[in-house]
Amino acid sequence: MKLKNRKMLLGVSGGIACYKSLEIVRGIREAGGSVSVVMTRSAMEFVKPLVFQTLSENPVATSLFSLEEESKIGHIKLSENADAMLVAPATANIIAKMAHGIADDYLTTAYLACSAPVFVAPAMNHHMWDHPALQDNLALLVKRNLHIIHPGSGYLACGSYGTGRMAEPGEIVTVLEDYFDRITTGEQAEKPLNNIRVLVTAGPTRERIDAVRFLSNDSSGKMGYALAEKCRQLGADVILISGPTALSPPVDIETIQVKSALEMYSAVMANSEQAQVIIKAAAVSDFRVETPNPQKTKKSERMTLELVKNPDILKTLGDRKTSNQFLVGFAAESQNVLYYAEQKLKEKNLDLIVANNILQKDAGFDVDTNRVLLIDGDGSIDLPLLSKEVVAGRILDHIMATDKFRSIMATKLKNAPSA
Ligand SMILES: Cc1cc2nc3c(=O)[nH]c(=O)nc-3n(C[C@H](O)[C@H](O)[C@H](O)COP(=O)(O)O)c2cc1C
Repeated sequence: MKLKNRKMLLGVSGGIACYKSLEIVRGIREAGGSVSVVMTRSAMEFVKPLVFQTLSENPVATSLFSLEEESKIGHIKLSENADAMLVAPATANIIAKMAHGIADDYLTTAYLACSAPVFVAPAMNHHMWDHPALQDNLALLVKRNLHIIHPGSGYLACGSYGTGRMAEPGEIVTVLEDYFDRITTGEQAEKPLNNIRVLVTAGPTRERIDAVRFLSNDSSGKMGYALAEKCRQLGADVILISGPTALSPPVDIETIQVKSALEMYSAVMANSEQAQVIIKAAAVSDFRVETPNPQKTKKSERMTLELVKNPDILKTLGDRKTSNQFLVGFAAESQNVLYYAEQKLKEKNLDLIVANNILQKDAGFDVDTNRVLLIDGDGSIDLPLLSKEVVAGRILDHIMATDKFRSIMATKLKNAPSA
């Protein structure tokens, strides 16, 4: 009952994912919270207010100028009473209006009147999601400390494939639960990673074979991007070093784009000294082609590639690690996961290793979910299958609960210039 007595204001705008918001209402109520729903005119084209009213057991607000709904200036009251507002699905249109302070319906007016934390779960076609206008609007919301619950990728209702599918209702409820969990323990209010510099690496690397071909792997970068975003939400000063991915650059996070393992090595080494927490989620190629052909190699019956070892970024970081740095590595294994991960933890002088079996369904490379083992000197924790966003939260919770992190934090505070 992690949302016990929490009052949620759910804004529903007009996307095909409206029907999923019915599940969100149910999830919030099952977690002990209550829900008041506000719908836009477009949303009512997809789902009738009566359905939300029945599931929430509260009147649904739809019209700013209704005598009944507005008898006590309802849009202000609704916002004042809410412990949090969630907009799900959030259309490109509603995101634009929220970003620019337009208040021409019940939802947008209630949003402007709301001083509680606001969560936004976008849902749209992938071209809409990629559009610079949408991304700029989203960046404005992030700048104002709204919490964006990122859409997943996959087949969309419009029949295309890409990013834009609203996060699953269960995940959205978990994000709310996690948030209120932290409020309860007093951590969120303090932004527990304030003053902490975190370096996150993500994605694959590309090792050139010739002018048009390269060696790479299946890493999508989603785990690393989710970690960077979570660190930012927790108040950290984040730098993300990313290999080539199909993901939009995260809003409000300093990002360095690299391609090869050598470029990743240089970028990491140039930025690691200032970081107190380093999370190496990138899948860096172990080898590179010794002499890539600057031209396109002509077709022939056989082609032999001479590979040489790339520098071991994680090992170098482990060797250089100071007592004020927390180093996290990832292990993608296909067998004996615990054994190999424990070896890597020791060999590379890590503080924590996040291990997964890449052969498991729905976990590892190029999917939105992950099932991982967290292994450190104290033992291992087996997490269930979770979205990468939630896994990111669990990894950071684990880091922040360690004695080493607490001591880094204490040193940082001791050395902070007094105001
Ligand atoms: C069948 C259909 C599905 C739609 N799905 C979405 C969607 O998923 N995301 C989105 O941003 N807009 C979607 N739209 C467009 C919005 O409904 C439209 O931009 C509308 O003005 C949004 O109004 P609202 O933001 O006030 O709810 C869809 C439109 C139709 C007809």
